[in-house]
Amino acid sequence: MKLILLGAPGAGKGTQATFICQKYGIPQISTGDMLRAAVKAGTPLGIEAKKVMDSGGLVSDDLIINLVKERIAQPDCAQGFLFDGFPRTIPQADAMKAAGVKIDYVLEIDVPFEAIIERMSGRRSHSVSGRTYHVKYNPPKVEGVDDVTGEPLIQREDDKEETVAKRLEVYSAQTRPLVAYYSDWATEAPDEAPKYRAISGTGSVEEITERAFKALSN
Ligand code: AP5
Ligand code: ZN
Repeated sequence: MKLILLGAPGAGKGTQATFICQKYGIPQISTGDMLRAAVKAGTPLGIEAKKVMDSGGLVSDDLIINLVKERIAQPDCAQGFLFDGFPRTIPQADAMKAAGVKIDYVLEIDVPFEAIIERMSGRRSHSVSGRTYHVKYNPPKVEGVDDVTGEPLIQREDDKEETVAKRLEVYSAQTRPLVAYYSDWATEAPDEAPKYRAISGTGSVEEITERAFKALSN
């Protein structure tokens, strides 16, 4: 199973990715998590990406495309993978097409922008694994602490209110066009295009997982 999770910042891609990846036994490829790991490690990529990420902009297509191509060449991706936060621009989607990467499903998670602001302001993350919680909607078992490792949770740099507004703007301008890109392709060339499925991302985490599983089963 190869799939793309599409959705605005804070739509719940990372949250649902965990359950979908568990069910299908595939790795989660989150370009955001990969970039944050590079920032933490202080690699040249991380140094270049940090400024852009903190401002809410997008890292250059070339960098991201190379990062993803390297990642999907790893043996654990042979049976499939889930893209979370990639592709995020038309050139990124075109690069996958040109490389002959055949995706089975594009699953769009749709959440109104008002709900997103609240989700991001309450988000807490485990920086090493990328596991995500919400102080109110998806709290860890022990406040401020990751369920699996017991390590402290942090608030992401780009979850400040001004940066969130910029990220939503960038999403509308550069990523949202992928909705038409994939849904038109699925209509025009159903045999070669990924199946396009859209679900509402409003409701409890469990309800959305159920919707996602159902959408991916037909
Ligand atoms: P990235 O890490 O991909 O961030 P994003 O797309 O902005 O998405 P988020 O991780 O913010 O949200 P999410 O949809 O995963 O939601 P989550 O599950 O955490 O990218 C960060 C940056 O890296 C970008 O801005 C860019 O600079 C760069 N970058 C990354 N990929 C790139 C690319 N391909 N090209 C160029 N640049 C790239 O949920 C959010 C919160 O809501 C959590 O607190 C969660 O607990 C809570 N929540 C989840 N579900 C529910 C629910 N049903 N009800 C209530 N709360 C919920
Ligand atoms: Zn995420």
